[in-house]
Amino acid sequence: MRSKAIVSFLFSGSLFCLSFSNTFADEVDTDAIYAEKCALCHGEDGKGTPTGINFGVKNFTDQDWLKSRTVDDFTNSITNGNPDNPNYLPFGDILSEEEIAAMANYVMGRFKQ
Ligand code: HEC
Repeated sequence: MRSKAIVSFLFSGSLFCLSFSNTFADEVDTDAIYAEKCALCHGEDGKGTPTGINFGVKNFTDQDWLKSRTVDDFTNSITNGNPDNPNYLPFGDILSEEEIAAMANYVMGRFKQ
């Protein structure tokens, strides 16, 4: 009886460690970052909110435009913004390099048909 309780205690402890390391080290939660930091301008549907359109966002679902861009372009733009467009806030100081790379891939992967 007693040893069973100890085993289950150890087991739940290791599960906790697994989920802890997943959340904080290995994976970037791209959905959450998009919802918190990007959807304000780009919209959940990627077409741009009224605010974003005022700022000059592109429609992420426009396949012709999307084909003209690369993941590297996106990484660069998310990091540095657009020097010609002061409304495009650079995320280089807000997100880590790993997060920016994940977001560039995320936008390309989510909206490309
Ligand atoms: C304050 C509004 C705003 C927020 C918030 C915002 N963006 Fe943008 N984003 C823009 C604007 C404006 C442009 C168009 C820039 C241009 O081409 O002049 C843009 C362009 C882009 C592009 C296209 C870049 C290219 O090279 O063509 C990507 C990808 C992008 N944003 C991703 C993101 C991601 C990811 C986030 C969240 C981490 C984000 N944006 C948050 C305003 C915003």
